Amino acid sequence: MFDVEAVRRGFPALSRTVGDRPVAYLDGPGGTQVPATVIEAMTGPMRRGASNVHGRFAASIDSEQTVAAARQAMADLLGCRPDEVVFGPNMTTLTFAMSRAMGRTWTSGDNIVLTRLDHDANVSPWMLAARDAGVEVRFVGFDLETTQLDLAELSATVDDRTRLIAVTHASNALGTVVDVATVTEIGHRVGAVVFVDAVHAAPHRRIDVAGIGCDLLAVSPYKFFGPHAGCLFGRAELLAELPAYKVRPAPDEPPERWETGTASFEAMAGVAAAVDHLASLGAGGDRRSRLDDAFVRTARHEERLAARFLEGIASIDGVTCHGVPEPDMAVRTPTFAVEVAGVAPGRVAEVLGAEGIFVWAGDYYAVEVMRRLGKADDGLVRIGFVNYSTLGEVDRVVSALARIAGDAD
Ligand SMILES: Cc1ncc(COP(=O)(O)O)c(C=O)c1O
Repeated sequence: MFDVEAVRRGFPALSRTVGDRPVAYLDGPGGTQVPATVIEAMTGPMRRGASNVHGRFAASIDSEQTVAAARQAMADLLGCRPDEVVFGPNMTTLTFAMSRAMGRTWTSGDNIVLTRLDHDANVSPWMLAARDAGVEVRFVGFDLETTQLDLAELSATVDDRTRLIAVTHASNALGTVVDVATVTEIGHRVGAVVFVDAVHAAPHRRIDVAGIGCDLLAVSPYKFFGPHAGCLFGRAELLAELPAYKVRPAPDEPPERWETGTASFEAMAGVAAAVDHLASLGAGGDRRSRLDDAFVRTARHEERLAARFLEGIASIDGVTCHGVPEPDMAVRTPTFAVEVAGVAPGRVAEVLGAEGIFVWAGDYYAVEVMRRLGKADDGLVRIGFVNYSTLGEVDRVVSALARIAGDAD
């Protein structure tokens, strides 16, 4: 049983109103709200006394403990070792660091493979590194009906000069879940490094880097109830071998050699609390087991939300949803890209926003997705539910869409 009302009580922002109406935060894919436990955890280090790490006094030792706890928490969330966890300001910055380093190992005649399902943060950094190294960029598309990545095309695209496959675990626009374990197998068959963007998947599914087998995987804690931060899993040997761009006095060992400058210890404290929040949604002996159970429970709840949403919009003339048509959380997240005939996406978001329903409109940086759907100009309206969303919120957005579509007639 998943008690959504009990979960919601932990989030101060969920009591916000617009006029006399409660806000429905349906922009989860753009960033989630934060529970009070995370807010408290973040202010803790500042209240006690802030310091950089590697000093010889108590406040510095506190910061080191904050870092260690955050690495352990992320290791529990991703299924890896704490020394395989790198922190940064956001996923995009971490991906640029990796692309610049990996690009230095590529030579003319090599190629890299990107997908049209990806957020641009997993496209542009690699394109720029490829340009600098003079290597070929190959794109793999997705099926317009199912919005699934074309794995046959991927197999046919890689060869023994493929150095990298960069792939999303789930599309932040369409919600499509990609079988990244199979993508990794395909990549490893030809000796390519596989980089997985799990930013959109992480709030919805249990991530297991060992099970996926990938070499690198990035997430953004602000998408799973944490603060603005980025986090990268890297296979230990790869983090040790790749040439990191760093200042000379900074540690040469992974993961710290990838963490340029002074970290946000406040954010790290918040990240650990966000993982604890997720774990608190499940039952079990240790944190990893509680996380296992939590994602089973939240997926069930999200599946109910998705089913109600798809059923609701199916009967509205003029509202189209792009993406996997089934509410099956094994193959999609509860994120929906919709359009209302005759009404610009920006206008739909504005009308909804005015009545307290917060959604995004545009391309949400899923540039290639929008191009492939022929929606590059205005994009689509994105409605994204997370585990604190309610059936009441689903009903509210469905009836608002029906009204907007009716008004457009
Ligand atoms: C799927 C996906 N990848 C990457 C990013 C970029 O993450 P960050 O904002 O942490 O750089 C986003 C942000 O929206 C995203 O949704």
